[in-house]
Amino acid sequence: MESPVESPAATEAILLVGGKGTRLRPLTMHTPKPMVPAAGVPFLTHQLARAAAAGVEHVVLATSYLAEVFEPHFGDGSALGLHLEYVTETEPLGTGGAIRNVAHRLHSAPGDPVLVLNGDILTGLDIPALVGTHRATGADISLHLTKVPDPRAFGLVPTDPDGRVTAFLEKPQTPEEIVTDQINAGCYVFTRSVIDTIPAGRPVSVERETFPDLLAVGAHLQGMVDSTYWLDLGTPQAFVRGSADLVLGRAPSPAVPGQCGDHLVLPGAHVADDAKLSGGSCVSAGAVIGSGARVVGSTVLAGATVEPGAVVRDSLVGTGAVIGARTILEGAVIGDGAHVGPDNELRDGVRIWCGARIPAAAIRFSSDE
Ligand code: GDD
Ligand code: MG
Repeated sequence: MESPVESPAATEAILLVGGKGTRLRPLTMHTPKPMVPAAGVPFLTHQLARAAAAGVEHVVLATSYLAEVFEPHFGDGSALGLHLEYVTETEPLGTGGAIRNVAHRLHSAPGDPVLVLNGDILTGLDIPALVGTHRATGADISLHLTKVPDPRAFGLVPTDPDGRVTAFLEKPQTPEEIVTDQINAGCYVFTRSVIDTIPAGRPVSVERETFPDLLAVGAHLQGMVDSTYWLDLGTPQAFVRGSADLVLGRAPSPAVPGQCGDHLVLPGAHVADDAKLSGGSCVSAGAVIGSGARVVGSTVLAGATVEPGAVVRDSLVGTGAVIGARTILEGAVIGDGAHVGPDNELRDGVRIWCGARIPAAAIRFSSDE
């Protein structure tokens, strides 16, 4: 009898979606980070669709902050070809605690690979290749690593010539700690039995506790450097960039609701004939873009209005927000329901809180000469 060919797929995944999304405020005041729309659908849709395309069948969402909004949207996951389950932490358990807390929902055998994903990563990672590396090396945990110019905001993961992880340094504080430009890209394969070694019932950081502790006892952590598209959507500017890259097709996702290209206008949006949309802009249902307005590399969420002659560049306009005529936004985030009056100029990472009111011609950056 022929021996069975081992499948490279992991059929189960844990998605960590319980973070507060603090850096993304005000977008995350009413919406958890993974549910903020990117390219017209909640960001999490892209991750779930990519997991399904990689052979994952069962996903457990580890929820905490605003946990109640996930299930009404995704239900049992059948629309995405998945079986989805939800486990909510009463108190946030951290990344490691969240993984441990959902272990009882997994069906995998002790030696099987289980995928674990941070819920804010947009990437073209070849997931089956990471699972293949995990199987081929016999690792306890395998990590997707990527190289970034400034690794300080991430987990640094130096490896030996065989790709074996030698240390894990989360958010290094001193220059001496910056020993590599390889960072933890937020996607792991755990051998199922390793999850049970994480202490239960208390907060645990997988990055600050589990990985360093496992390395200290000689566990095999394997890194796979992959330089495909990768972005952590944890800040407003990154979120806007990620959405535009999805629309442009630079970031691959089977869940973009339409043809990839210069812009995406969802059904039910209204864009004036002489308005110009470009740079991967996305306009959601019920939004209105007025005559002569220009929207470049930006996201306009449902029911928002961009009045005539306004210019919106590399910005996000929240649900139901209004951008007055001739106002210029560049690198701005406008919270849900905020009203920015006409003839304002908002730039450089400014964040306008949900429901705020800015009168006409109240804020300028450039000289009036
Ligand atoms: N369920 C649950 N409970 N999820 C949580 C909790 C929690 O208490 N805390 C954080 N998460 C989720 C977040 O929702 C997010 O999806 C993921 O865990 C990572 O948390 P972030 O807050 O986004 O962490 P980070 O971006 O600062 O750092 C992490 O990601 C980097 C890559 O983007 C670390 O894993 C770094 O090592 C890594 O380099
Ligand atoms: Mg993050």
